[in-house]
Amino acid sequence: MALDLWVEKYRPRKLDEVINQRHVIERLKVWVNQKSIPNMLFAGSAGVGKTTTALALAQELFGNQWKENFQETNASDERGIDVVRGKVKDFARIMPLGSEFKIVFLDEADALTQEAQQALRRTIEKHSNVCRFILSCNYSSRIIEPIQSRCVVFRFKALTKPDIEIYINRIAKAEGFEVEKEAVDAIMDLSEGDLRKVANILQACSHDKITKELVYEISAQVKPDDIRQMLKTVLSGNFEEARKQLFNLTANQGLSGEDIIKNIHKELFNLPLEEKAKIDLLEKIGEYEFRLNCGSTPEIQLLALLAQFLKYKK
Ligand SMILES: Nc1ncnc2c1ncn2[C@@H]1O[C@H](COP(=O)(O)OP(=O)(O)O)[C@@H](O)[C@H]1O
Ligand SMILES: [Mg+2]
Repeated sequence: MALDLWVEKYRPRKLDEVINQRHVIERLKVWVNQKSIPNMLFAGSAGVGKTTTALALAQELFGNQWKENFQETNASDERGIDVVRGKVKDFARIMPLGSEFKIVFLDEADALTQEAQQALRRTIEKHSNVCRFILSCNYSSRIIEPIQSRCVVFRFKALTKPDIEIYINRIAKAEGFEVEKEAVDAIMDLSEGDLRKVANILQACSHDKITKELVYEISAQVKPDDIRQMLKTVLSGNFEEARKQLFNLTANQGLSGEDIIKNIHKELFNLPLEEKAKIDLLEKIGEYEFRLNCGSTPEIQLLALLAQFLKYKK
């Protein structure tokens, strides 16, 4: 592999290496011992281990021959269910190698239309003698009932801060770098619990010592501290200084108006303001965001929004 992507390099190969999701892993391990699995539906948000778990399961079930017995298809990539059916048919035609069944993993199954899902249901039934299906989706409610009732549904949990720390430490230890405590918080903030994003941020930083500043700089993201500081400045009545701080964000750091306004929104609720003031400002933020989306000049709109904060100066 020319490009060594950490998302792949640090993808667990064994079920026991999957972080959290114990409720899923423990059941799967029992089935691995029995060498038999049902059809399954993996539901959960992005980057919490659905694909990883399916891959690890296949490796534990099939050993060296896992690639011959495992097929991964992305339902939203392929043009329609016919391609999926064709691929599944071709895959199922060849007998499993050293096992009684093969696994078809269908990612983003909830991207399929209702009609396509009906066709998928028939495909599942038709090939049930040689294929087990693992469907992955964000929301199980988007999968038609006849498919759900043919699958054991597993809900993958959102990963917590300690989970993400385990993953960061794994990579940091293997790559031999240090991650500052505050950088961990920054990565948590930016990744929103998606470990794929965590791996990508770390790889982009890859430095002996990863700091909070580096994380925000590399990902070209707004630092919450900067926004907090700017809002505090304007609320203290120093509009000129706040204007300079804003200029630093737009001109020097090259951040987009949308990102800045999104972060002003995030910080609003932490400000020492009365409820009424927050509600008024919330409305303003909505109004200025709309103007930005309509294509007006970010510098002017953001500055005008800051002027709104001036009304509530202490
Ligand atoms: N629970 C987990 N334990 C360990 N690594 C994980 C876990 N979830 C995600 N990852 C990491 O994030 C990457 C993306 O995970 P993946 O399983 O593809 O997510 P998805 O739930 O979107 O299918 C993997 O390559 C792996 O490195
Ligand atoms: Mg996936």
